[in-house]
Amino acid sequence: MVSPDADANERFQRYRVEYALKAHRRDALIEFIKGLLAVPFVLHCQPTAHLGDSSQAEMAREAHRRYAEIMKDVEVLINDHINYQNAGQADKSKLRFLVPTVGTFFTPLLLEKAFAAQDKKRAISSRRFVAPSFNDIRLILNTAQVMSLVENGPLKLVTFDGDVTLYDDGMCLEPGSPMIDRLLSLLRRGLHVGIVTAAGYTQAERYRERLFGLLDAIKTATDLTSEQKRNLIVLGGESNFLFRSNPESEFGLEWVPRSQWQLPEMRTWDEEGITELLNIAEAALGESVRSMGLNAEVIRKERAVGIIPKSGHKFEREQLEEAVLVAQKTLDATDVGRRIPFCAFNGGNDVFVDIGDKRLGVLCCQSFFGDVKGSNTLHIGDQFLSAGHNDFKARMAASCMWVASPLETMRSLDELFEYLDNGIPE
Ligand code: IMP
Ligand code: MG
Repeated sequence: MVSPDADANERFQRYRVEYALKAHRRDALIEFIKGLLAVPFVLHCQPTAHLGDSSQAEMAREAHRRYAEIMKDVEVLINDHINYQNAGQADKSKLRFLVPTVGTFFTPLLLEKAFAAQDKKRAISSRRFVAPSFNDIRLILNTAQVMSLVENGPLKLVTFDGDVTLYDDGMCLEPGSPMIDRLLSLLRRGLHVGIVTAAGYTQAERYRERLFGLLDAIKTATDLTSEQKRNLIVLGGESNFLFRSNPESEFGLEWVPRSQWQLPEMRTWDEEGITELLNIAEAALGESVRSMGLNAEVIRKERAVGIIPKSGHKFEREQLEEAVLVAQKTLDATDVGRRIPFCAFNGGNDVFVDIGDKRLGVLCCQSFFGDVKGSNTLHIGDQFLSAGHNDFKARMAASCMWVASPLETMRSLDELFEYLDNGIPE
């Protein structure tokens, strides 16, 4: 017979194993909300499928009421957490007790209203067999964030990741992309725009190759003031190279010297430390290439090192994640890795270690445009898992929206415009 102690031990072990395997692939707040919504789903949803079942409408009404109540409760928990945050005691909040890894909230979240809006679109309450999912909750949180910024902001700055957020992985913002109209609309409304991308190039020409559709549209726009045309910046290599939109310049972008935008904490990084960090990262990536027999090429840049597959090859997801975690853990154990911020991430079919990260990238945009606060900033990106994802750190600098494709980015911007123009639905 298994003793209670042995039973508890086994559960603990299983938990540890689960944690080691999955912790970096989960978002704790989304999982928490998913768990709460699973209860009414299990209790109220009727897993029957008779044609013309008249109980279906009643079930959907009841499920909607229960889900909405839970979203309101989470909204209240977040408000309580914000109160503790403001008193410098975030560790004491109930939400921190329930979701220990939960971070900073820059605005409240209108979760009940956002649920109502997303339920209308996704018919979450009408589902009998499929419980509220990770994606349902991610999209509810996004809508709640937009609503809250419109209500409490005001929104002054929108920063975007590049790949998978503004364009498909490795692609460009070409003329005619429907994203361009939305970006111009932000500028027309007097908002500032930052593109905070890992793509690290030292020349304006290279960013022009990725963004030419947008830069040409800014140049020819007749409904933007010359000031609005200059309200777009590109921060490349996470937080390493800054270019400002300038329709008068050859490539539509002008390089801005670091001395004009670097944050005080970035001025303390020494060149020897940067080289040492990149050397260690290169060695760690090299070890992964050897141990997993990857057909990879190593790319060393001024402020980054990465591995990309040799032509005709593709890395598996597991290989990408392994290489990221090896580099991350190796650097975490070094003095220089603790002294200089870096970002090891999985770029879909490559792995890079960059000096700096998107927390700094978004903070640089905020300070460049004149001390914009996190509660007036929205960062939109596709990489928000805790390890191996480079938008994750932006959560420390601004309110964020987690998208899965450029199409979702456009839908979210349309939602933002709708609420800015017509207010938030009652
Ligand atoms: P993001 O999604 O806009 O942050 O771009 C990430 C992608 O940019 C990576 O997956 C790489 O393919 C590419 N890239 C190009 N240069 C760099 C670099 O210096 N560091 C990191 N990623 C780079
Ligand atoms: Mg991306």
